[in-house]
Amino acid sequence: MTEHLSPGDRAKFAAAKRASALVESGMRVGLGTGSTAAFLVRCLGDRVREEGLSIQGVPTSSRTAHLAREVGIEVFTLEDLPQLDLTIDGADEFDPDLNLIKGGGGALLQEKIVAMASNKMVVITDDSKKVDTLGAFALPVEVLKFGWQTSHELIKNRLESLGLGDKPIARRMSGETPYVTDEGNYILDLQLGHIADAPQLALRLNQIPGVVENGLFIAICERVIIGYNDGTTSEQGRPVG
Ligand code: 5RP
Repeated sequence: MTEHLSPGDRAKFAAAKRASALVESGMRVGLGTGSTAAFLVRCLGDRVREEGLSIQGVPTSSRTAHLAREVGIEVFTLEDLPQLDLTIDGADEFDPDLNLIKGGGGALLQEKIVAMASNKMVVITDDSKKVDTLGAFALPVEVLKFGWQTSHELIKNRLESLGLGDKPIARRMSGETPYVTDEGNYILDLQLGHIADAPQLALRLNQIPGVVENGLFIAICERVIIGYNDGTTSEQGRPVG
């Protein structure tokens, strides 16, 4: 799988490969979304075919569900399996406390629910996602279609009152077509630059009518596996306390 990879993909693959070794037969595994998580799903598919690894996968998006089936992983929903052993997913940013920004791929809602249903969440990433303070990556917020302009206005006002960032940008597919999530909602991307108090912002955003979920993952991830362009990896655990 590795011969023709770009340096960036080699880093993602290395992290995914190392994380795939955490998975044991009999586990119920949350399967993340995005290019790094796709490497993980492929690595697990290889183990299913080559080693007879037997796992139950719960995907975090229709894209991941499709890929998981394609590579031979049995796919379930949280209705079938309400409690999972482990979720492995990518991230758009992580800080020293392992708080995350997720949702660049538009799957933050399912990703957060699946991660919260898991005994443990491990993030796989390349080292470009490591930051001192979250916020350079635009924070995705999933909002209901119903009255989304009102939610947009309310978020804008909330950000102003917190002295934060620019007005939210409605995510588009191409041209003027809005991006629609697996749940049929829209995504607003918040250009914040620097989020001084991420736990507080996560709470304040979710209080706004129409906001379904935001892409801040606070104290959910326990471990990050970081891949590098030369194919090496390192690990970081969440600081205690
Ligand atoms: C999707 C996500 C992804 O995990 C995040 O965007 C990272 O993606 P990639 O591995 O492609 O860089 O949150 O909603």
